[in-house]
Amino acid sequence: MLQIPYEKMAVNWIEPDLTNKESFTLSLPWLSMRIGVVPEDKSWIKDALAHLHANPSNENVQKFIHELKGYPIAYVQPRKWEKFEGKDLQKCPDLTVDLSTPASLVATFGCPIDPSIQEDIIPAWTWDQEKILEKARIEGTDLYDPMSFITYLICYRLEWESGGWLGQDRFGKFLQTLLEKDEKQFFQAIGGISRQAWQVLTEFCSSMEPAITHFVKAKEAVASYIAEERGHHKFMEQVFRDLDLDKDAFPLAGGTRWLLDSYKHAATISPLAFSAMVALFEAAYYEEEEAITGAIKRSSRPHAGRGYELHRKVNEEYRHCDVPLHFASYLAPQTRSHALLTVGLFELTLNVLNKMEQKLARSFDIH
Ligand SMILES: [Fe+2]
Repeated sequence: MLQIPYEKMAVNWIEPDLTNKESFTLSLPWLSMRIGVVPEDKSWIKDALAHLHANPSNENVQKFIHELKGYPIAYVQPRKWEKFEGKDLQKCPDLTVDLSTPASLVATFGCPIDPSIQEDIIPAWTWDQEKILEKARIEGTDLYDPMSFITYLICYRLEWESGGWLGQDRFGKFLQTLLEKDEKQFFQAIGGISRQAWQVLTEFCSSMEPAITHFVKAKEAVASYIAEERGHHKFMEQVFRDLDLDKDAFPLAGGTRWLLDSYKHAATISPLAFSAMVALFEAAYYEEEEAITGAIKRSSRPHAGRGYELHRKVNEEYRHCDVPLHFASYLAPQTRSHALLTVGLFELTLNVLNKMEQKLARSFDIH
């Protein structure tokens, strides 16, 4: 499969420094890194950088993207129709959701939304749905390559987040400000967040179960992912124990309820949305340390961060960031309505989750 660098990827070669080492920088709205280059790699990397956007099929460009496969920096070029022929893949079921507006999606999707988050439903779509779909369209058809669609959607989402509240690490800053202001309150905030995480990890496996029957071509893959996820709520129970907090003292947020319920329903009606939405539960790539772990480590109870740390390690070890794509490999070309449902669920749900974190920050009087 040919990989295409995301259009916002910028690279810059850095001439030898005082230590005579050469390197280049790679930046995307959500990620930037400086990578050292050893002399024997210099010529192919320079060639890759020169052809990055103009000629992605260049073999050095492909090698370059492959070397950085741990990071979401590229998407899959739509395969030709013939590539799908004769394969035993999951077809799209009929869909009767009205996707014209966020409100119509919620009204017709088939899963209730908690009244407490009614106000968090965005009034209109703002994501460029046509652009996302066009990146995945299979030539000569009005069907979409699920691998292209999901890989592009993941990058698009990261770009969108980088311009918003989460991308500017406002949540990390909120935690740090609160920690400096009042540690007791800081632990309360961690309790509130961990309660949401506990609920997600407690129900995640059962939310996926409908996919075993409705996404039958990926039955084994789904079952083994469920097995890998089982019991992970215990990581959060560890956090509560380490902080001497009672998880039941913290409320379940409407946004968390929607995340789990909508996912479970997607598992029943849309294998494409189900595959893509795993990305709402898993990190897109693994950073050195999550904001929450870092903040807890700076508190007087640094060991309380280990529940988060261990969970992150498991995800990284099993490469759970790759699960959406693995599921997508069992999908046949997808219809426009399933692709639009998936984009809609992403935009709607991510806004709801964003609002949830902002509300939490405001409840501690930090903006
Ligand atoms: Fe995971």
